[in-house]
Amino acid sequence: MSRFDGARLTCVTFVVVAVCAVAACDPGVSAGNAEGDGQADAVSSGQLPANAPSLFGFGSPASAARVALWDIDVRPDGEGLPSGTGTAAAGKQVYEMYCIACHGPTGNEGPNDRLVGMEPWGDWPGTRGIGNYWPYATTLFDYIRKAMPQNAPGSLTADQTYAVIAYILSLNGLLSADAVLDATTLPAVEMPMRDRFVPDDRVGGPSIR
Ligand code: HEC
Repeated sequence: MSRFDGARLTCVTFVVVAVCAVAACDPGVSAGNAEGDGQADAVSSGQLPANAPSLFGFGSPASAARVALWDIDVRPDGEGLPSGTGTAAAGKQVYEMYCIACHGPTGNEGPNDRLVGMEPWGDWPGTRGIGNYWPYATTLFDYIRKAMPQNAPGSLTADQTYAVIAYILSLNGLLSADAVLDATTLPAVEMPMRDRFVPDDRVGGPSIR
């Protein structure tokens, strides 16, 4: 197969995928392209056909600057936390501006997840909030930065994120109202239910614990 054929096959695949994404996918849509379907199946299963070209002639290498925009994970030990700082008092303002509409005045009225919860778990699943269900405080930064506020994720500055975490942890009784969080103090917060979590070393299959 020539390079051109490879590119054309990819385009056909994209069109079929796009059609399927827009309309409920009817398997009959691509029935007329039996050979192409076989190729597409091979590609979607991760196995390129033996005669596939090594390059398709489009795209460009991701620059370090572009990768950096996506490389924003914060790990349990705090690795990845950006510079910045925030107080619980400033976080109250952030909360009232950007979070209260969904999570409510006390953090307990939330649409799904509650932001406040310190009572021990009763019968599983119990009522889970941040105080009794998050093993690390650091990963709040990871989650909030990527996902909240749900109607404008990614819009908070690092200072606002530290601040709103300080406020939420103070609502949970884990920090005092004058607490200041930054890349050093946030990893030092010990979540009370930390020891209720164990590493998940299941290897697959039906094992449950
Ligand atoms: C438009 C509604 C909306 C807004 C505004 C919003 N949230 Fe959320 N938030 C949600 C929903 C819905 C969930 C549950 C998501 C899920 O279950 O996947 C959630 C979940 C969370 C969680 C996870 C709680 C847990 O224990 O799993 C945190 C933390 C959180 N939000 C923080 C915030 C913060 C901080 C703000 C303001 C900066 C904010 N949210 C604003 C809708 C919202």
